[in-house]
Amino acid sequence: MQIGPYQLSPYKPDMPILTLAPMAGVGNWVFRLICARLGAGLVGVEFINCRSIGLRSRKSLQMLDFSDAQIYADTRLSLLAAQIYGNDIDLIANGAREFERRGAQIVDINFGCSVPKIVEKGCGAAYLRDLDRLYTAVQRTVEAVSVPVIVKTRLGWDDSDINILEVIKRCEDAGAKAVAIHARTVVQKYKGQANWDWIARAVENSSIPIIGNGDVLDLAGARRMQRETGCAAVMIGRAAMANPWIFSGRDGATLSERVELALEQLQLMADYKGERVGVLETRKHLALYFKSLPRASELRQQLLTTTTLAGLADLLAAWNEPDATPTEDDLTLSPAEAEALAWGGNG
Ligand SMILES: Cc1cc2nc3c(=O)[nH]c(=O)nc-3n(C[C@H](O)[C@H](O)[C@H](O)COP(=O)(O)O)c2cc1C
Repeated sequence: MQIGPYQLSPYKPDMPILTLAPMAGVGNWVFRLICARLGAGLVGVEFINCRSIGLRSRKSLQMLDFSDAQIYADTRLSLLAAQIYGNDIDLIANGAREFERRGAQIVDINFGCSVPKIVEKGCGAAYLRDLDRLYTAVQRTVEAVSVPVIVKTRLGWDDSDINILEVIKRCEDAGAKAVAIHARTVVQKYKGQANWDWIARAVENSSIPIIGNGDVLDLAGARRMQRETGCAAVMIGRAAMANPWIFSGRDGATLSERVELALEQLQLMADYKGERVGVLETRKHLALYFKSLPRASELRQQLLTTTTLAGLADLLAAWNEPDATPTEDDLTLSPAEAEALAWGGNG
């Protein structure tokens, strides 16, 4: 897949190119680096509001920390696609310039977010109802930066208003270098099934690369999406949260690999965000690494209530031993656990 000057190849010859979806609350510096190291061809970030780019809070500055892009440039591990959203086209273009200054290799504009409070303000998927505005936003951003601009979007507003082919045409004309499609409508949010047929149609009608997205659960699913749609790359969101090894072409990992990665992620997050925030943000994530494993239910409960790095490290180390087959409880999340692990989807 070619995105502007960048040529992307699969991690292994018999795999599709896999990319990490942009995910608010998930795509932080540490998780991106982990996914890049495991083979993600391109990594998304936590989307950033064009109005928060000038803010100087620690949180805002950390979201704008794209210094991992330099690691990717030096090692050719991956590419960082920094995502912006907003309702002010000047601020989007200026924000894109700031992203480039901070090292982003690609600027991604979000036209897919379906969260009502965002859409109501004219951001995210609201652009799907005004394609002239969408075109102008892409064109002005392309003019503002020298790195490639890509777009992430949905199929259209609802089943009676699927305009993805028109959206792609406008993006191409405005100078976008690729479009990632979450194959659901805005009204659907995350319900129902992603409709990959539209990805196939988009591929047929597009001269720029189409990145397919939606409901890829495992490597077989990624292969199937590529086979059925001809997409240039497959973008993975939720499945990567529990299984970042998917980027290496593996549907999971051994218990000791999971423990090792969890410990590393915790340590890096504590170094990066400080122990309290690092632990709080990571333990929820780690619990997903231990879904469906023996005694996982007990581990998850303990993980979600431990507050210190040392406590979590002890817990994980004690877990790192061969044991029995998973029970029914290990395989399913209790309602309380599901709530504790709930992530608000934004895309
Ligand atoms: C926790 C979470 C946060 C998300 N945040 C974003 C975001 O910031 N920007 C975006 O374009 N999409 C966002 N999305 C949507 C994903 O990028 C992706 O389109 C969606 O999850 C479908 O892919 P999947 O079936 O592989 O998860 C988010 C999804 C989740 C689950």
